[in-house]
Amino acid sequence: MTAGPRARRRARLTGVGAYLPERVMTNADLEALVDTTDDWIVSRTGVHERHIAAADQATSDLAAGAVRDLLRRTNVRATDVDLLVVATSTPDYVLPPCAPIVGTMTGMDTVAAYDTNAACSGFMYAIAQATGMIESGMVRTAVVVGADTLSRITNWDDRGTCVLFADGAGCVLIEVDEGEPGTGILGVEFGSDGSGFGDLWVPAGGTRTPATASTPHGESCIQMNGREVFRFATRILVESSQRLLDEAGLTIDDVDLVVAHQANERILDHASERMGIPREKVVMNLDRVGNTSSASIPLALAHVHDAGTLEPGSLVLMVGFGAGLTWGSVLVRWEPRG
Ligand code: UT7
Repeated sequence: MTAGPRARRRARLTGVGAYLPERVMTNADLEALVDTTDDWIVSRTGVHERHIAAADQATSDLAAGAVRDLLRRTNVRATDVDLLVVATSTPDYVLPPCAPIVGTMTGMDTVAAYDTNAACSGFMYAIAQATGMIESGMVRTAVVVGADTLSRITNWDDRGTCVLFADGAGCVLIEVDEGEPGTGILGVEFGSDGSGFGDLWVPAGGTRTPATASTPHGESCIQMNGREVFRFATRILVESSQRLLDEAGLTIDDVDLVVAHQANERILDHASERMGIPREKVVMNLDRVGNTSSASIPLALAHVHDAGTLEPGSLVLMVGFGAGLTWGSVLVRWEPRG
């Protein structure tokens, strides 16, 4: 028997789920908190409003909301899921990880479950991990979640960051498939540059500088060198995408949708221009949800799915970038269940 390309086990992305907390915070609300204006926020970032978790909600609650939505949409039983990965930088606790809690909340009682943290690129890394496990035969059905409650580590006195960050969760279903070559998850490209760790970080609260009673509040919150991260983001988005397309033997003209991390509308405009892809093919939902870190890409994917622009067979290029500094891109042919 010949083990040709048809026999190769592939990972297929077959469903999406999303959850946004109820409370909406508008730019007008922020005008009342810090010295900013709706005009500045919209023209410099593109954000109009964002969702903020309720006081009794933590990241596992948002993640479980997204997983329930996914199970409902796909008709997959919780007990059929072998692997649950939660990408997050804001777990409920330092220990235990979020994923087992989410598993129990959603009826996946004994599922293999763990967290992964690569900041705003975390969802891309988590997809790469699940893809590897499916292709190697370790698991058959995986749910990959991106969830963050950034409002808990946002300095609400810092106008340079508080207008950007928000809360939410999104997820995808990845299933084993023995279909034609050219289907499923077609490739990944990722990397990091730790020399930029201080450009986007929370200085206190880890093992290097544990938070104490005398730690200034701002040290336990996100601090960002916005201009430097902006430069990195615009460069790496284009470079990582190009490397991935080259590796896959495809060009940007083959791509139907670019689903990039929703950090700033100007970054998306720049990507469209530099990559030579029409702006309408570069998905944007940050105007309504802000920057939700690990949740950003699956939420954007759910947005285009619900808008009807994500069609079966669409070639989707997803790109994440953020703290670390880290980046990751995934090229996928969208093949929903049914
Ligand atoms: O999720 C990880 C990836 N994150 C990103 O990719 C974020 C990348 N960075 C950015 O998106 C942008 O750098 C920001 C939106 C954060 C900032 O935009 P910018 O155009 O780079 O502004 P800036 O930091 O250069 O500041 C320009 C001016 C400053 O005033 P002066 O010094 O020129 O007088 C800031 O103090 O804008 C001021 N400013 C504000 N003014 C009104 C900063 N934040 C605000 C604000 N409202 N909220």
